[in-house]
Amino acid sequence: MSNANHRFVLAARPAGLAGPEHFAAQTRPVRAPEAGELLLETLYLSVDPAMRVWISENPGYVPRIELGDTMRGSGISRVLISRDSRFDTGDLVQTRAGWQSHPTVRADDVEAFDRAVGTPEDWMGLLGMTGLTAYFGLRDVGGVRPGETVLVSGAAGAVGQVVGQIANIEQCRVIGLAGGPEKCASLTRDHGFHAAIDYKAEPDLAAAIARACPGGVDVFYDNVGGPTLDAAIANLRIGGRVVICGRISQTAASELYGVKNLGLLIGRRARIQGFVVTDFAARFAEGRTWLAGQHAAGRLHQRLHVLDGLDQAPVGLGMLFRGENTGKLVVKVNG
Ligand SMILES: NC(=O)c1ccc[n+]([C@@H]2O[C@H](COP(=O)([O-])OP(=O)(O)OC[C@H]3O[C@@H](n4cnc5c(N)ncnc54)[C@H](OP(=O)(O)O)[C@@H]3O)[C@@H](O)[C@H]2O)c1
Repeated sequence: MSNANHRFVLAARPAGLAGPEHFAAQTRPVRAPEAGELLLETLYLSVDPAMRVWISENPGYVPRIELGDTMRGSGISRVLISRDSRFDTGDLVQTRAGWQSHPTVRADDVEAFDRAVGTPEDWMGLLGMTGLTAYFGLRDVGGVRPGETVLVSGAAGAVGQVVGQIANIEQCRVIGLAGGPEKCASLTRDHGFHAAIDYKAEPDLAAAIARACPGGVDVFYDNVGGPTLDAAIANLRIGGRVVICGRISQTAASELYGVKNLGLLIGRRARIQGFVVTDFAARFAEGRTWLAGQHAAGRLHQRLHVLDGLDQAPVGLGMLFRGENTGKLVVKVNG
């Protein structure tokens, strides 16, 4: 067992993209757990675009991370020492202990992890926040119905891959937007998309969407924002819905893009709605049951993009914004 806890703290607020220069590595002796606490060994950490928001001056919807604080984040850990009757050594738990290798945490702050439902890898993607974001965003916020046309941006990323497969299961026609021919090929080959558009290769994205969706778009699931949102709104059908899940193109931008096509929502009787996955926390069990059932039936899977070692976490955060990941980006820390 390691006697040291390796961690990354926020060292500077980035002006643009985040990278290793904004974090500082620290090593401290492991703290022995007191009553009601657990000593954990981190197995996997999630790397999410929202982390770039959390380290900004004013994130808006959550408290910012202060300079010197351990970088916030979720993951899966193994219990090394338990001082709480609900947990035994060797249990796997979901945590929000951030970028550290051997944290000591309150048992109240972790959630038991059911190995019968899925592997740790499944819980990092499909059965974790990624799958739940796709499930509630498309079904509840998007109100998707069989036979509809669904357009997904950031389609080869973590949430996008799952949204496409769920739309397929819901008997929709689903088109993905992704950067580069490799990612586009993977969408139709591996993730149930009926067509894919390489947005980086299209001088007129609205026209490309119109070619791929000749009858228009019923649901646009947006992970990207900016000009992509404009191009999709231009193609909405009457009664169309836009799900604002993320806007990664704007998250680290020095100048924000002003969306121009909002006026089209009037004649199209269309609606645009943002959401945060935790809005649905009371229904996570329902979402996980559905996702796990589809996974067991072989209709739903999540590709993980695995980086090796805690040191890769700060590198990974920048990768998301350069489009260097395919699927759910995670860091394997131990095990
Ligand atoms: N609302 C919620 O509760 C919630 C929950 C989870 C995630 N989210 C949001 O959902 C979005 C996707 O998250 P994720 O974890 O699944 O990340 P991800 O899609 O796995 O990774 C980000 C991807 O975004 C694309 N991208 C980066 N910069 C871009 C740009 N300027 N224009 C167009 N595409 C760009 C890249 O793909 P390409 O190579 O294709 O460009 C990149 O691979 C993020 O905006 C995130 O903040 C929201």
